[in-house]
Amino acid sequence: MPKKILITGGAGYIGSHAVKLFLEKGFEVASFDNFSRGFREPLKILKKYGKLKSVEGDLRNKKDIRKVFKENKIDAVAHFAALCSVNESMERPGLYFENNFVGSFNLFEAMREAGVKNIIFSSTCAAYGETEYLPVDEKHPQNPANPYGESKMLTERMLRWYGELHDFKCVIFRYFNVCGADMNGEIGDGKKPSSLLVQNAVRGAMGIEPFSYTCQKVDTPDGSPIRDYIDAEDLARAHYLAYGYLSKKNSQSEIFNLGNGAGWSVKEIVSKVEQEFGKKMNKKSGEARKGEYAKIYADASKAFKILKWKPEKNIEESILSLRKWYEKHPRGYDN
Ligand SMILES: NC(=O)c1ccc[n+]([C@@H]2O[C@H](COP(=O)([O-])OP(=O)(O)OC[C@H]3O[C@@H](n4cnc5c(N)ncnc54)[C@H](O)[C@@H]3O)[C@@H](O)[C@H]2O)c1
Repeated sequence: MPKKILITGGAGYIGSHAVKLFLEKGFEVASFDNFSRGFREPLKILKKYGKLKSVEGDLRNKKDIRKVFKENKIDAVAHFAALCSVNESMERPGLYFENNFVGSFNLFEAMREAGVKNIIFSSTCAAYGETEYLPVDEKHPQNPANPYGESKMLTERMLRWYGELHDFKCVIFRYFNVCGADMNGEIGDGKKPSSLLVQNAVRGAMGIEPFSYTCQKVDTPDGSPIRDYIDAEDLARAHYLAYGYLSKKNSQSEIFNLGNGAGWSVKEIVSKVEQEFGKKMNKKSGEARKGEYAKIYADASKAFKILKWKPEKNIEESILSLRKWYEKHPRGYDN
């Protein structure tokens, strides 16, 4: 019997890369998405890779998610569905707590009722906030600087209690800043413009729309925030490894950073993109985002030690994959 995984947020940027990989590995996949930020098109494209069912529903409605477990025999869940704009969360905090925290609560309850115990949860480096030391390991204190990070930290804590009291087994992944696309340019970040730096720098270099700096001035050598960039395909592979890890009888719940371990400032990333395209961009200054902090990059050695995961795509390959994706889909997905 093929294994069946439920992927919440399967129509989104990172979730769709996981859908593709799990299908390629012979899994049956049920994607659950309300299409508030995701798209129908990637799921249509990915159908050719295997048995994929797309369920339209909202995690904020208990009935929607309960139904999925009633109608499908699910082995494990990869929970990507969330709202994830730091800036938006500073403007609409309640939306973030409802969507990300209450939505996750409804999912965990539906899993508990159905007796599904294994879950891989997409958390974020934003759950750390301003750093006390670098690189950040998983034991670093958590002081989120915005409601988005807080909603993820609270969900991590809720999940810990579902582990202790309802025997859930979980892998919590704290992703750093995500970039890149599928190497064939088939699926990618469909948002236009994206809220993510490397994506927007590539769009700027390709002349799709002008590039604007939207970062606050912070205390770093060039005054722009330092972040750690990790490719969406590498993240998808980590989820596949985590599924295998959770399936082992003697494994226990764990938290892992997923990053490259190197810090790039915003200005360095823009220069790198210009270098890869062999031209300078006309850069503008946009409105500064709220809720940002100076620098963070990961110590991801625990993921290598336990899951044997390490990044395979470097920044040049991520930029190349984005170039291929935007060449095929300059306006993102159609629907
Ligand atoms: N993109 C990043 O740089 C980054 C970094 C760290 C962590 N993450 C986390 O990774 C996950 C995926 O992020 P992404 O960049 O692919 O975002 P995305 O917006 O592309 O995908 C999220 C998907 O979840 C769906 N969704 C949101 N709320 C929902 C709800 N209530 N019910 C059903 N579906 C819902 C959206 O429609 C969308 O398809 C998120 O949990 C995010 O917090 C992302």
